[in-house]
Amino acid sequence: MAEIRTIGVVGLGAMGGGIAQLALEAGYDVVGREVTAELGERAAGRIAHFLARKVEKGQLEPDARDAAVGRLSLTTELEDLAGADLVIEAIMEELAAKLELFAALDGIVRPETILATNTSALSVTEIAAATTRPERVVGMHFFNPAPLMPLVEIVRAELSDDQAVEAAFAVGERMGKHPVRCHDTPGFVVNRVLIPLLNDCIKVLDEARVSPEDLDAAMKHGAGWPMGPCTLVDLVGIDVHVHAAEALYEKLREPRMAPPPRLVAMRNAGLLGRKSGRGFYRYDD
Ligand SMILES: NC(=O)c1ccc[n+]([C@@H]2O[C@H](COP(=O)([O-])OP(=O)(O)OC[C@H]3O[C@@H](n4cnc5c(N)ncnc54)[C@H](O)[C@@H]3O)[C@@H](O)[C@H]2O)c1
Repeated sequence: MAEIRTIGVVGLGAMGGGIAQLALEAGYDVVGREVTAELGERAAGRIAHFLARKVEKGQLEPDARDAAVGRLSLTTELEDLAGADLVIEAIMEELAAKLELFAALDGIVRPETILATNTSALSVTEIAAATTRPERVVGMHFFNPAPLMPLVEIVRAELSDDQAVEAAFAVGERMGKHPVRCHDTPGFVVNRVLIPLLNDCIKVLDEARVSPEDLDAAMKHGAGWPMGPCTLVDLVGIDVHVHAAEALYEKLREPRMAPPPRLVAMRNAGLLGRKSGRGFYRYDD
């Protein structure tokens, strides 16, 4: 198995920036690609900031921080990913954009290079079909925020070969994550379970006429959840949850997957949760 030394990360937004940081800390050389140099610099600044905080907290040696920052190179050109052993895609959740990107990458990287997508709700198999190497395409589904959440789902698409799946699994482990293997089914493991569950929770707000505070307290103190469902949906982002629920509903046609109208209305009103300052709760910071 050829060793993975250089990881390309395409899209350095919320997820890609975190994935690039993990790869740097794990000792990989990272080529980060953004659509503009300014977006790339902004992402590099965020990575440097988080690494500096880890040094302050005594979680990272200053030398290791400097080495990690030194292993990052930025580009706006996909061609600069030609030397990557693994490319992890974390661009916007749009099938057409991902198909175009994978087809382009397929013509740039070496035949054995593994192409991974961080998609939450699209079909990895469909994305793989845009390439001439579907056996080298897998899903690596990180959770937000990637540097903090321990899980990564390693998704086997219809034609993925064992070696690509195991190589992606090993990268997840080296990044300090807890990888789990699963097949390419809508929602993979966690979202398939969590999205209908959170939808049920939101419906109970109206059915049981319970307040968000009391529903959160009920699930924390009666079911052992580390945080209540309203707090969790606010943290995930109500727009992100609604989008994922719609995608799962479209694929599975199970009514429980469809986003509750209350959440859709909140999304439409710009009540997106923590990131917009207001969702089920208000956030002043
Ligand atoms: N945010 C989450 O909670 C979460 C969790 C797991 C997986 N994901 C998945 O990760 C991926 C990225 O999500 P995000 O939240 O980081 O999004 P984001 O909007 O924060 O970042 C997307 C980045 O991709 C770049 N980009 C957009 N369109 C592009 C294109 N056509 N070509 C190249 N680059 C492009 C943008 O410049 C941006 O920096 C999505 O597939 C999403 O479903 C998100």
